[in-house]
Amino acid sequence: MNKLVNIKINGKKIKCSPDITIWQVARDNGIEIPGLCGHPDFPPKANCRVCVVEIKGRQKLATSCSIKPEEGMSITTDSPRVKKARNFNLELIFAEHIEKCPTCIRNTNCRLLNYAEKYKIEIARFSDRKGKRKTYKFANAVEIDGSQCVDCRNCVDACSLLQKINYLEIQGKGINQEIVPAKNTYIDCIYCGQCALHCPVASAQEQTSWEEIDKLLANRGDKILVAMFAPSIRVSIGEEFGLPHGKVVTGQLVSALKNLGFDYVFDVIFGADMTTVVEAAELIERINGKKNLPMITSCCPGWVKYAEFYHPEILPNLTTARSPHVHLAGAIKTFWAQNQKIDPKKIVTVSIMPCTAKKFESRRVELKINGLAPVDYVLTTREFAWLLKRKKIELGKLKPSEVSTPASGGDSAGSIYGASGGVMESALRTAASLICKGNKICDNRLDFKEARGMAGIKEAKVKIGNKNLRIAVVNGIGNIDPIIKRLNNYDYIEVMACPGGCIGGGGQPIPTTPEIRKKRADALYGIDKNAPLRKAHENKGVLEILKWLKTQGKLNSQVLYTKYIKRS
Ligand code: SF4
Ligand code: SF4
Ligand code: SF4
Ligand code: FES
Repeated sequence: MNKLVNIKINGKKIKCSPDITIWQVARDNGIEIPGLCGHPDFPPKANCRVCVVEIKGRQKLATSCSIKPEEGMSITTDSPRVKKARNFNLELIFAEHIEKCPTCIRNTNCRLLNYAEKYKIEIARFSDRKGKRKTYKFANAVEIDGSQCVDCRNCVDACSLLQKINYLEIQGKGINQEIVPAKNTYIDCIYCGQCALHCPVASAQEQTSWEEIDKLLANRGDKILVAMFAPSIRVSIGEEFGLPHGKVVTGQLVSALKNLGFDYVFDVIFGADMTTVVEAAELIERINGKKNLPMITSCCPGWVKYAEFYHPEILPNLTTARSPHVHLAGAIKTFWAQNQKIDPKKIVTVSIMPCTAKKFESRRVELKINGLAPVDYVLTTREFAWLLKRKKIELGKLKPSEVSTPASGGDSAGSIYGASGGVMESALRTAASLICKGNKICDNRLDFKEARGMAGIKEAKVKIGNKNLRIAVVNGIGNIDPIIKRLNNYDYIEVMACPGGCIGGGGQPIPTTPEIRKKRADALYGIDKNAPLRKAHENKGVLEILKWLKTQGKLNSQVLYTKYIKRS
């Protein structure tokens, strides 16, 4: 790190690193400078010019997101010149954005709207220039509404620099600029939603289902409405209600879903335990039979779509285990429904997910069980928060409630599934017990810290009993290439499409930054550390369901396993 420098912002003396931008220094010191195109995940583009500041001795205003501090710099963020330029730029940007505020899920969290209110922008000063722009839909997961786009290009950076998919392109110049899907048919969207997560407005966003759920909750007829929530939601949803990043709100989350009107609320960490037990058994079988190695995780539908489209030759390497919410929904519509004497056709399962790709996954016909889709609807964390805000349900003020479980027995272990490396670690805990069988030394190993952390690729050799497992964890699909090239070097690989895993998923609260991802992941590991149950194979309810399924003929494979489709 270079020597610290002394600068002044609005007269305040600050000692700071010369390696970060003025924008970041200001933020670290509690001085807000607005900005639309800047994001810590990308190098600065400096194209919105909303973050302009005045630097003493320089004639032109400077974009603070692209300039680094130098010794003796004196910066003003709110001089009359800065205010005039900033407001003019914001008014021009508003002319690019058709307001759909009343039904927009970003309504309470839109940077543009917030700035308009804060800086008293005349939003109708220039006429709307993009009224007739198209909306591009990517399967049932993500969309880009050109009439709302403010040309910041963050979605393009997310798709190309972060995810290395390159599905989004910039067409035209100046006021004719438009974000369009790639024409090259060798490129396809994987539905990860990172474009939406980095969009400062609601131009790139999930294809919403909240309206349907709202109607269903108001008029359910004879339907039983069941909500399921993902491991990572418990440490992120609080942010939508002003709680600190990584605040654990599991019990309040259950109460919020009940307040919305759901009849039952289940925790997907139960489903994660089902996935672990099925996947770990398959891993050991493949290792013993030396077949289809390395085995690769498949609970991330963004990754599965990537493999199906870009590398169909490796589909036999993917585990055949279904993903956690599909496992849980399958158990609900079979074992639980039978025990409760409920017709499965009357059950509507709504999955609250950090993920846009799960919307696509829920429509996969190969997942159907006796003709019924296990998961009926997927709402992102943001959609769920929007539903709560519309009903004026203050999540942070609710008293915690308990979740329902699909079988007898209390605790589940799978909270770490929400962070990169969590699926691997959970499976290794169970694999260790299968490999060691009675050997207390290796049987007791719980922590596989080699799999944790925010590095793009994590590799290790893990010794369990007489086996040396070569593992790799791919944290973000943008890091997949080197691993695909040396696939034979490994026995077991985890891939999550989003940076940080699901805690950084495309449906999570905005903003999501490296710092915020870390806080959410730390919170999940904190839950795990103190959890009463940390091994999936000791989940009594899961064992009860698996035992029952074994007596149910083909239902066993319908509930537990899946297959993949070559899509290129
Ligand atoms: S969903 Fe992912 S792959 Fe698709 S356009 Fe957005 S960032 Fe690119
Ligand atoms: S879709 Fe959103 S992220 Fe992409 S350029 Fe438009 S405003 Fe920016
Ligand atoms: S990492 Fe998680 S949020 Fe992202 S696509 Fe995969 S499952 Fe969805
Ligand atoms: S945030 Fe600096 S130019 Fe856009």
